Amino acid sequence: MMRGNYVQQLFCCLALGWMSVSVATANEEANTATQMRLAQADSVAPPSSSETPKKKLDVKNVFRNICGFCHENYGRVAAKGPQLMSSERTDEFLFNRIKNGLPGRMAAWGSIFDDEQIRLIVKFIRSLKPDEDPQNP
Ligand code: HEC
Repeated sequence: MMRGNYVQQLFCCLALGWMSVSVATANEEANTATQMRLAQADSVAPPSSSETPKKKLDVKNVFRNICGFCHENYGRVAAKGPQLMSSERTDEFLFNRIKNGLPGRMAAWGSIFDDEQIRLIVKFIRSLKPDEDPQNP
């Protein structure tokens, strides 16, 4: 009886030991697999967004569909919003006004367009000419 118990305990310990070893191995395998996947992802991941813009913003389209409601004719004439073409404001002012808006006057577009896109919008505004069809920057 005593001896049987001992054997049983021994067997139990062995079994537990084996289980923890196999769990550890499984974990290690999972870790290695994750690391390999990460390494692969690294090597095929596109360069960070500061190097290549995702999809270049179609500013002309944005103006036609959104801003044009108040900045008519791509901002070339004053309407509900002021004329933007030939603005004497600094780039920084235009950038900040688009990004942060002006409460009660114009919405803040900072949650819709990222900084890079807003810079593109400013570039578009700067390129506006009275007698030329606006082009995307
Ligand atoms: C609902 C009308 C409305 C819409 C839509 C709108 N704006 Fe405006 N925007 C205004 C008004 C009004 C002002 C003038 C705010 C003020 O009193 O200084 C303004 C000002 C600006 C200015 C600063 C011009 C200046 O000289 O003060 C810029 C730049 C501008 N808007 C760009 C945009 C762009 C880009 C969009 C589209 C993404 C847009 N706006 C959409 C109404 C609008």
